[in-house]
Amino acid sequence: MRKFGLIGFPLSHSFSQKYFTEKFEKENIADSSYDLYPLESIEEFPALIKAESELIGLNVTIPYKEQVIPYLDELDEKAEAIGAVNTITIRDGKLKGYNTDYDGFSNSLTQWIGANPIPEKALILGTGGASKAVKATLEDLGVSYQFVSRSSGEGLLTYEDLSSTLQHFKTSTLIINTTPLGTHPNTTELPDLPYNQLTQGHYLFDLVYNPLITAFMQKGIDAKCWVKNGLEMLHGQAEKAWRIWNS
Ligand SMILES: NC(=O)c1ccc[n+]([C@@H]2O[C@H](COP(=O)([O-])OP(=O)(O)OC[C@H]3O[C@@H](n4cnc5c(N)ncnc54)[C@H](OP(=O)(O)O)[C@@H]3O)[C@@H](O)[C@H]2O)c1
Repeated sequence: MRKFGLIGFPLSHSFSQKYFTEKFEKENIADSSYDLYPLESIEEFPALIKAESELIGLNVTIPYKEQVIPYLDELDEKAEAIGAVNTITIRDGKLKGYNTDYDGFSNSLTQWIGANPIPEKALILGTGGASKAVKATLEDLGVSYQFVSRSSGEGLLTYEDLSSTLQHFKTSTLIINTTPLGTHPNTTELPDLPYNQLTQGHYLFDLVYNPLITAFMQKGIDAKCWVKNGLEMLHGQAEKAWRIWNS
């Protein structure tokens, strides 16, 4: 049996388990299973690896994408630069960490922008785990960016700054929502932005994928901007994990 699974806590609604279980069925992938391993503390991780000797691949979700790093033998270069891991391979007892959110976001963003010129400046809304993979992608694409946070701090813009100094919003034509605002069931929530300043030259990318059109994206649609949700990124990160486990 080739065993795969997900660690995190809590793990009530898992996209990954459904995705991989359906994939195994649809693509007739035999002798494979994908299970949930809710860990109340990351300190339970070594015991899980010991007990589940057939495990060859894991995904990692909130709150362990950073906390799991000290338990790994090796880090892929990108995961090291990002400082977060969402995929692990287990080979000959050695654990290696990867960040496939990077690949999922990077591929989805570049395909969506397509042949249009890539915006020169971006705003990243939120400073959590997912924002780090977004930051690494923008650095690799040569897009300059600023983080927008609810708290003020060095190198951070606040939502109040964006409304009081409209220049940031006008010149940063790529806006990426990495906050959970707007996620089902809180579908009316959206980042606090001066939406009346949006132009047809703005690109709004929402990492949220449920619902498929978020309140943030709807503001962009109303202003005739380009909009994109996080579904393709989600599938992209899962497929990249699958390719890593099978390489
Ligand atoms: N599509 C995909 O493949 C994909 C992959 C990864 C994540 N995601 C989605 O991306 C979102 C963020 O994930 P994450 O792991 O980065 O979560 P996270 O670590 O919890 O971070 C989210 C960040 O959003 C900001 N935030 C949180 N609550 C907020 C609120 N009520 N109002 C304004 N800002 C708020 C916070 O930044 P500040 O404190 O600085 O404001 C926080 O650090 C989730 O919805 C997740 O489902 C999607």
